[in-house]
Amino acid sequence: MSVKRSRFGEYYLYTIENLQGAKLEVTDLGATVRSILMPDRNGIMGDVVLGYDTPEEYLKSDGYLGAAVGRYANRIAGARFELGGIAYELTANEGGNTLHGGIGFSRRRFDTVSAEDSMVVFELRDPDGGDGFPGDLTVRIGYELSDDNDVCIYYAARTDKDTVINLTNHCYFNLSGEGDILGHELLINAGSYLPVDGALLPTGEICPVEGTDFDFRSGREIKNGFYDHCFVLDNNFCATLSDKKSGRVMLVATDMPGVQFYAGGALSERKGKNGRLYGKNSGLCLETQRFPDSPNRPEFPSCVLRAGEMFTSRTIYSFDVE
Ligand code: BGC
Repeated sequence: MSVKRSRFGEYYLYTIENLQGAKLEVTDLGATVRSILMPDRNGIMGDVVLGYDTPEEYLKSDGYLGAAVGRYANRIAGARFELGGIAYELTANEGGNTLHGGIGFSRRRFDTVSAEDSMVVFELRDPDGGDGFPGDLTVRIGYELSDDNDVCIYYAARTDKDTVINLTNHCYFNLSGEGDILGHELLINAGSYLPVDGALLPTGEICPVEGTDFDFRSGREIKNGFYDHCFVLDNNFCATLSDKKSGRVMLVATDMPGVQFYAGGALSERKGKNGRLYGKNSGLCLETQRFPDSPNRPEFPSCVLRAGEMFTSRTIYSFDVE
């Protein structure tokens, strides 16, 4: 197992390679996953996530390709919330609402804490008032590739004032490494999901998936690219994504209560890595996370991080073939 560091414009790229020749490439720009190379059923390596060739493209493009998302992944209604009797006004970046933390983390340069063996650890300090959120926040994100083709993402955060937190990763997966994800098979281990309004904010209901297009419990082909919803997970087993063409399979496990299944329906046309063209449904996201708008929804599981306490979380994307 080795980690190699190379230049990425003003940033760095770290490439972790395992004994099977699979590779995970991450950059300190946004603590972003730039590529994941995994074998298909014939042992041919293919890149299963979307990304760009240059830092400039990451800095100017929307869509959060592969990025770490914080302080609060997903949406906060009205770009405000109250905590401990104090109202906080946030950066509004989607109409009057906050998406993915406002300016957020995805274009920031992270410090590299360590890069050895099978793991790279990044750190970011976000000052009190960053995007309007309370508390000096220190976030650490660790990326690890195991010899069994597991990509593990570890999150840790600490604050000096009570705050809210929701960290995730925004990889767009495409197990074929080309074309779009319509035709991929997806199983989500969720008996309910959160319906949304026209601004994609949760209405507050938690609805059973039974008998709806949101019932992925036994696995179904993705035929329709409109999905952009948070699913309420039954337990730590989150999802299985498979692609008949390549034989690649990805299992997702997490300690988070939800997963945002975003089928990439809003991804506009753009040039991606190695001359590929991306557009609608070129990749899909399985963003493990707390529920959207939890800071304004006392009925949802708490997203509060108390001063001095440590937030930790872990998501594992395990790759295999069938
Ligand atoms: C959101 C989508 C949004 C995308 C890119 C996803 O996490 O759920 O609504 O279009 O991020 O910003």
